[in-house]
Amino acid sequence: MPTPRVLSGIQPTADSFHLGNYLGAVRQWVALQETHDAFYCVVDLHAITMGHDPAVLRRRSRVAAAQLLGAGLDPKRCTIFVQSHVPEHAELFWVLSCLTGFGEASRMTQFKDKSAKAGAETASVGLFNYPILQAADILLYQTDQVPVGEDQRQHLELTRDLAQRFNHRFGETFVIPGPYIVKDVAKIADLQDPAIKMSKSASSPQGIVDVLEDPASIRRKITRAVTDMGTEIRADEEAKPGVTNLLRIYAALAGVSVADLERRYAGTGYGAFKKDLADLVVDALAPIRERTEEALADEAELDRVLAEGAARARDVAGRTMRLVRERVGFLPAR
Ligand code: AMP
Ligand code: TRP
Repeated sequence: MPTPRVLSGIQPTADSFHLGNYLGAVRQWVALQETHDAFYCVVDLHAITMGHDPAVLRRRSRVAAAQLLGAGLDPKRCTIFVQSHVPEHAELFWVLSCLTGFGEASRMTQFKDKSAKAGAETASVGLFNYPILQAADILLYQTDQVPVGEDQRQHLELTRDLAQRFNHRFGETFVIPGPYIVKDVAKIADLQDPAIKMSKSASSPQGIVDVLEDPASIRRKITRAVTDMGTEIRADEEAKPGVTNLLRIYAALAGVSVADLERRYAGTGYGAFKKDLADLVVDALAPIRERTEEALADEAELDRVLAEGAARARDVAGRTMRLVRERVGFLPAR
């Protein structure tokens, strides 16, 4: 059995990842590099779907790559690359877009949310196409599993449908990928509004903890996180969504179960619990921040890592794309 392959991507659309990105996705990526043939991609093509500034995109693409190294990805154990360095992504996107129904793409909830925000008339066609480009990212690498947060489930369903459709029409070409979603951390909530997910676009600054944020500010936000009626530290999605979210963050970072924490904090108030959680988050993020800063300090080395990653990625993507061109019926270029 060959080593199973994973691929995932993250957008360089902020100056820092947030705790939801880290717990829901990047932490799994770090673990999976030990057991899987892993490809991780800074998806800059996706990052221009909502409008952007070129200098900011350049900076954020390096910051995103540096944070992946800071979080513990090791370029010797996995392939880290920038999406636009591998032109096959845009090429496969086109082929897949011709297999995607207009109605099918219109039903993507992330598109509906984001286009509603941008205004239906001004939202770009790129935003509409976003999930099809994501499908291309995944299928190019013959990916077995895709580690992401819960919000990406629908895009993965579309990816599977497109892979099956292509295989059915043109012959077996793509591996059908599955989601790799870790239930308890798949949807980290906003600290101020536990009804919504922590998100760079929807959360207020108080509701979001950044990976690169300074410790004093992290402590303040956790201390002020919305808790619920009563004083009991107990997981209850319906009655106590705020405390439940904090318990999940705690459990994930400490490597213990929520039930253990309920026992440990039985009879104590929110204050002590939040203080311990703040210590835990600060201690978990500090080394990531330090290593990210180190990676950013040597831009030449960072760019070298990305160039090496792109070469490895192109090797795999190029092989898939040659097969796709032949299956679709494009004439060989001589
Ligand atoms: P993005 O920043 O949209 O590129 O997301 C990067 C990764 O983080 C994706 O796998 C998302 O599913 C995941 N993610 C984003 N927000 C959250 C959240 N609040 N909880 C868990 N995972 C998340
Ligand atoms: N759409 C994903 C997100 O917002 C990012 C992404 C792009 C991705 N391409 C991907 C995730 C391929 C997994 C696989 O988080």
